[in-house]
Amino acid sequence: MQIDVVTIFPGILEGPFKESMIKRAVDQGFVEINLVDLRDYTHDHHRQVDDYPYGGGYGMVLKPEPLFEAVEDLKTRSGSKDTWVILLTPQGDRFEQRRARELAEKSHLILICGRYEGVDERVRRSLVDVEISIGDFVLTGGELAAAVLVDSVIRLLPGFLAEQALADESFTESLLEYPHYTRPSVYREMEVPSVLLSGNHGEISRWRRKQSLKRTLERRPDLLEKADLAPEDEEYLQELKKQQS
Ligand code: ADE
Repeated sequence: MQIDVVTIFPGILEGPFKESMIKRAVDQGFVEINLVDLRDYTHDHHRQVDDYPYGGGYGMVLKPEPLFEAVEDLKTRSGSKDTWVILLTPQGDRFEQRRARELAEKSHLILICGRYEGVDERVRRSLVDVEISIGDFVLTGGELAAAVLVDSVIRLLPGFLAEQALADESFTESLLEYPHYTRPSVYREMEVPSVLLSGNHGEISRWRRKQSLKRTLERRPDLLEKADLAPEDEEYLQELKKQQS
């Protein structure tokens, strides 16, 4: 997979892409990530990428020409027939795991980091395939949102993570995770639940499932509507709801 990130602040993303899992994915050849400076696609002395909004109002708008030229150049150079152009913006579709899985199947992503008050509407209309928001809050620009998106997509690239990590995740897809513990078994008088020390894998699985259900009911009951629940899960949830009332 190739990911091109078009930004006027490439420095913001240099750090995140040089550490940990993203670095490993790059080093192992699962993905090529290019930070593309939008100013490289300007032709004037000041390398101007933004301008005042027609009609007046506060702030600056990213100009169409450098963005069109950048995306067209990146598409030509990659030669991929499967490019998706994504604009990171708080007005976009809310980013979810489902979308991350969809993106992980593409061979080429071009991420455009929005800035200032916005992006010329012609970019949205005829250059971008999808607009994505990472949540209902406003960042100063799309760079950190792009880092979030890249991180979540990379871990899903086929063969990159251990099968087991993803299998566990898809099993508990729309449930929150159960609690995790590691050594020591007692810390400041707080004990690890004895079932986890029992070596009984059947019991451990059942305990974890129940903990996931309980946590989801307490924190994100909305997720239970989408969850794939077995009859014993439903029974346990009924029990918990009775205890709550
Ligand atoms: N740019 C500014 N805020 C954003 C958000 N919440 N998601 C994606 N891009 C953004």
